[in-house]
Amino acid sequence: MFAERTNWNLSANRLSEALARHRASGKRLLDLTASNPTECGFEYDGEVILAALRNPAALRYEPNPKGLESARLAVTEYYSGLDARVSADDIFLTTSTSEAYSYVFRLLCNPGDELLIPAPGYPLFSFLAEILDVKLVRYPLVYDHGWQIDSHSLQQAVTPRTRGVIVVHPNNPTGHFVKANELQALNDICEKRSLAIVADEVFLDFGFNGAAPLTFASNDRALTFVMSGLSKVAGLPQMKMAWLVANGPEALKRQAVEKLEIIADTYLSPNAPVQLATPTFLELRTGFQKQLLGRVRHNLEELDRQLEAQKNCSRLQVEGGWYVVLRVPATRSDEELALTLIESRDVYVHPGHFFDFPTDGYLVLSLIAAEEQFAEGVRRILELTSSS
Ligand SMILES: Cc1ncc(COP(=O)(O)O)c(C=O)c1O
Repeated sequence: MFAERTNWNLSANRLSEALARHRASGKRLLDLTASNPTECGFEYDGEVILAALRNPAALRYEPNPKGLESARLAVTEYYSGLDARVSADDIFLTTSTSEAYSYVFRLLCNPGDELLIPAPGYPLFSFLAEILDVKLVRYPLVYDHGWQIDSHSLQQAVTPRTRGVIVVHPNNPTGHFVKANELQALNDICEKRSLAIVADEVFLDFGFNGAAPLTFASNDRALTFVMSGLSKVAGLPQMKMAWLVANGPEALKRQAVEKLEIIADTYLSPNAPVQLATPTFLELRTGFQKQLLGRVRHNLEELDRQLEAQKNCSRLQVEGGWYVVLRVPATRSDEELALTLIESRDVYVHPGHFFDFPTDGYLVLSLIAAEEQFAEGVRRILELTSSS
């Protein structure tokens, strides 16, 4: 009765079973996988947010495949703040970054075509690709005093069926930004092999060194699609507002935009109240980002302080984003370690294999978890890893 692509293994894995048992027990869990900013104790200006959703203009339906112009203009201003000139005509509003991915996958790929994705990387891609009949091929990020794209391996991974390269900038969970020399190598490969670049910039504003980051929105050497949204930029995942920016050589970009218009017109997904509120939500991002970066800095300092006092674990360098990778002794699988942490220490972390780390010995911790939870969770992780 059902399509083969839906033949997922729906049985719970050991970790989710342990988590369900823990939740049922009613005991307090220190959740170091936290990724929902609305549950992490940040302050939001509720009145301004709700007032922005009460715009009388929302009583009129104005269908536009790219989304309301007022919201797209606010997105162009966001990019002006990053020194990138983006035209509102090249922007498509979507309800999530995932939806933006689906538009791009549908635009670029026939069933069975390939897209390159970074490893380690964010697990969402596998599901998106399965649903959309795309094959994912991993290219490695290598760690040597910081993460880098292995451009040689990336090039080797290209086949006649490759349609594009996905970059996550900065990457989740490694926190690595694509550097100017990596961008150049990427453009060289993509130009030569007629591949598109798909740049996920949901964490772009969360760099730790304070400098304005380079955005792929100004990359016009290869056909480029950039996606981001309010979910991370303004900490408002519940508003379901994201965007897709097309850039690249003019003629190619124009064709892409025309075709995307048909895809987007088929769904007309974003709703009027949220589109009308988007300029306000984008203005609110400054206050949110300040709080979030303060939390992340504080948690990183706490982690470093605790790591200094022991010898078993270390952390990998991180340049931005909401996560940090902890290197732990590989005396057991990451899954075993995560299970033991739930069952015997009431701490929930993501094992590295969840993000396609090539070996055991990695845990991923959320840096946006509340300070007290983070500090106590780290203390318990280090206590367990030093006792085994
Ligand atoms: C790298 C990356 N891309 C996309 C998303 C999803 O964003 P959205 O809520 O806009 O679909 C996430 C969510 O954590 C993410 O980590």
